[in-house]
Amino acid sequence: MAISTKVKGSLESASWIRKMFEEGEEMKRLHGDKNVFDFSLGNPDLEPPSLFKKKLKALADAPISGMHRYMPNSGYSETRKAIADYIVEETGLPFTEHHIVMTVGAAGGLNIIFKAILDRGDEVIVPSPYFMEYRFYIDNCGGVIRLVETHEDFSLNLTAIEKAIHEKTKAVLINSPNNPTGVIYDVESLKKLGSLLEKKSQEIGQRIHIVSDEAYRRLVFDKISLPNLFQHYPHTLRVTSHSKDLSLAGERIGYVAVSPLCEETEELVSALVFANRILGFVNAPALMQRLVAALQRNSVDVRYYEEKRDLFYDALRSYGYQIVKPQGAFYLFPKTPIEDDVAFVKDLQSKRILTVPGRGFGKPGHFRIAYSVDKKVIEGALPGFKEVAEKYGLKGR
Ligand SMILES: Cc1ncc(COP(=O)(O)O)c(C=O)c1O
Repeated sequence: MAISTKVKGSLESASWIRKMFEEGEEMKRLHGDKNVFDFSLGNPDLEPPSLFKKKLKALADAPISGMHRYMPNSGYSETRKAIADYIVEETGLPFTEHHIVMTVGAAGGLNIIFKAILDRGDEVIVPSPYFMEYRFYIDNCGGVIRLVETHEDFSLNLTAIEKAIHEKTKAVLINSPNNPTGVIYDVESLKKLGSLLEKKSQEIGQRIHIVSDEAYRRLVFDKISLPNLFQHYPHTLRVTSHSKDLSLAGERIGYVAVSPLCEETEELVSALVFANRILGFVNAPALMQRLVAALQRNSVDVRYYEEKRDLFYDALRSYGYQIVKPQGAFYLFPKTPIEDDVAFVKDLQSKRILTVPGRGFGKPGHFRIAYSVDKKVIEGALPGFKEVAEKYGLKGR
């Protein structure tokens, strides 16, 4: 066997998202693309803002000498400075370019954080349901994922977090707006989380960091403003990217920002930069760094996703599905009317609707819908959702 036992095991426990995606490809081959309603993959379906294209063209027309060469592993200082300036505006905290490391998307950012902070056997607490890739990222760096329950409405369960903390705890990883639920953690719960971690860090004699995965930070609805963790816990690392807010998922550009109020900030940043180098990323894509520097105050039109959230949520509720109303990202995470989420997802599949069972996110009894698709796909799928609801006797409104 050429591959490692560990990777073989991971491949076999395969991602549900990938599995549904592959089944979808087969269905599309059989029924034609238009007749399959694919909500399996969270792939942003908007084009980047026009300013992005303008800047790209300008750069191609007037290239900067040396722009394709190696650079510092942390990224271009102009880009880091542009990001730091933006975060200063947001938080009033003294961020500088020295607190920012450019990364290969949020995924690259998470990997360098875990490489930088975890020793073998160290634990990262993750509220569930959660983005399954976390398990692999933590494991890549010798760490152990420690899942904790959230409340019925997917808000943070601080008692569960408190119980899970012990001497091996290095970080709590939170994701808001959340994949798969679309939930945003409110400011009160984040303040309480900050106080809890302060107290617990003292108790165990080791600093517990918050890793704040903000991959969807700009996809926020209902005029809500996303609470800023930097203001509530000094030992916070923000990891984000422009995959969703600028629709640049394939370009792999993101950053990690370390709070200037963090203990040992300099050492932490040096460790992140070193991890960028030795994990083989070396640095974030050069061309993208140049472009996003000028786009920190831009994003795709969030109303596009909000309108779809409204259309989908209202329709599913009217058929009797139980759903926590998402406040951001582009996912719905309804309860399945039967316990077996895989069987339920198969029912939807018989209507040519592709979704992902909740167990793919550590939460059976639910299913995830990624609605980053054309409105027509949603409209085409609604009769199928209604028929399946009726089959299970859900009471419409
Ligand atoms: C919660 C969450 N974190 C991180 C990522 C990775 O994002 P990126 O494309 O920036 O690596 C994703 C991608 O879907 C995600 O859903």
